[in-house]
Amino acid sequence: MKHAQWVVALIIGAGCGDNLPPKPDAGPPVRPDAGVNLVARGRYIMNTLGACTFCHTPLNPDGTRDNTKLLAGVDCFVDIDPTDPNVGCIATRNLTNHETGLKNKTDQQIKDAFTKGTRTDGKILAPVMPYWVFHNMTAQDQDAIVAYLRTVPGVDHQVAANQPPWSLINDGNAGVCSMFGTQGTTPCLADGIMESSIPMPGAGTADMASALRGRYLSSMVGLCIDCHTPELPHVPPTNPIPPFFPRPIDMGKPYGGGRAFFSQDLGLPVPPYPAFPTPIITRNLTQHATGLMGWTTSQIRNAIAFGKDRDGNAVCAGTHGSLISPYAALDEQDLTDIVNYIASLPPVDNNTGTDCAGPPVP
Ligand code: HEC
Ligand code: HEC
Repeated sequence: MKHAQWVVALIIGAGCGDNLPPKPDAGPPVRPDAGVNLVARGRYIMNTLGACTFCHTPLNPDGTRDNTKLLAGVDCFVDIDPTDPNVGCIATRNLTNHETGLKNKTDQQIKDAFTKGTRTDGKILAPVMPYWVFHNMTAQDQDAIVAYLRTVPGVDHQVAANQPPWSLINDGNAGVCSMFGTQGTTPCLADGIMESSIPMPGAGTADMASALRGRYLSSMVGLCIDCHTPELPHVPPTNPIPPFFPRPIDMGKPYGGGRAFFSQDLGLPVPPYPAFPTPIITRNLTQHATGLMGWTTSQIRNAIAFGKDRDGNAVCAGTHGSLISPYAALDEQDLTDIVNYIASLPPVDNNTGTDCAGPPVP
């Protein structure tokens, strides 16, 4: 019943201009301990918690998700050099049950891709694909993803080839990868986040069991840690990496915020979203004056699920409160666990500013 009320709140919220449409792709929330229907759990991870659909499903011209092409991949998902038609585009891959997708790939090939960074054709995945986060996912959740993928209707879509510099990363070009910092143990392969480097909830945490579940949900199967942890600084300072090229995140400052994204990287295509002249900077989520110190748990909850900051203003992120936010459909208990974890994060001093770069998202 609690869950039903939540759904009703979402629908009412949408009516009030919160832009929270029903999520036909998401299906009902499924927690890992819920008797484990693997397909249902996988559907929930891919379309809600892990936000896979956020990158792997194309959008309609009006900015809504095109669920007739669910998980079929997006050509030129990110273009880091719009001035040159032959440089800068990376595609997300077709994950559906079709020859152009994952139909003929083994379970192990698929798991190696999303947890270890080896593409199913043997190339190296660009670290835009957060395999270095999913690396810490439980075996059961990995199985759930594969089980669900086997049920996703096939869509005929051969994704466009990646352009440089991404194609050079795919080929393991050591020179290029050393510039980009993605050196890992093999050139171009990013190291997975060490589980032990993900902060534990602070000592005074009231509901420790919930916060520990939230640690897994936000840092190993969900992507909060990816967007909300700063990148390592440019090394050396003279290197030519565009500032928006992804570098490994700095696990010395977990959840300290400060990653810079252009609208498009956050799934905010222009139009219908307004053009932001400068990148959007993610916020510091830790218990520091430059972070969320003083926020109540319900304020944190509203930010994650509805995209409202403490003053009720819209935050600038496709992931929070927009037409395509996956987090509006989070399981209520999962959301509580994530909030309890975020509210317990040890302080990181990192002033990321308070406003997004441009006008609020529609
Ligand atoms: C931030 C965007 C983003 C998110 C979120 C994301 N992916 Fe990806 N994914 C990509 C990109 C980009 C590629 C292709 C990179 C390349 O070709 O170098 C990719 C590639 C893959 C591949 C490789 C397919 C092949 O043909 O080898 C798999 C499998 C995959 N993703 C699964 C997932 C799963 C499962 C999730 C969620 C748990 C997920 N992705 C979330 C961006 C994303
Ligand atoms: C794709 C990147 C991305 C992901 C993934 C993401 N966020 Fe965010 N988040 C942002 C951006 C961008 C903002 C807003 C920046 C702005 O409006 O200036 C934001 C804002 C927030 C805020 C509001 C903070 C403030 O000071 O206004 C909270 C809280 C938050 N995110 C928590 C989370 C949690 C918890 C998760 C995981 C469930 C998460 N985010 C996942 C990008 C992301």
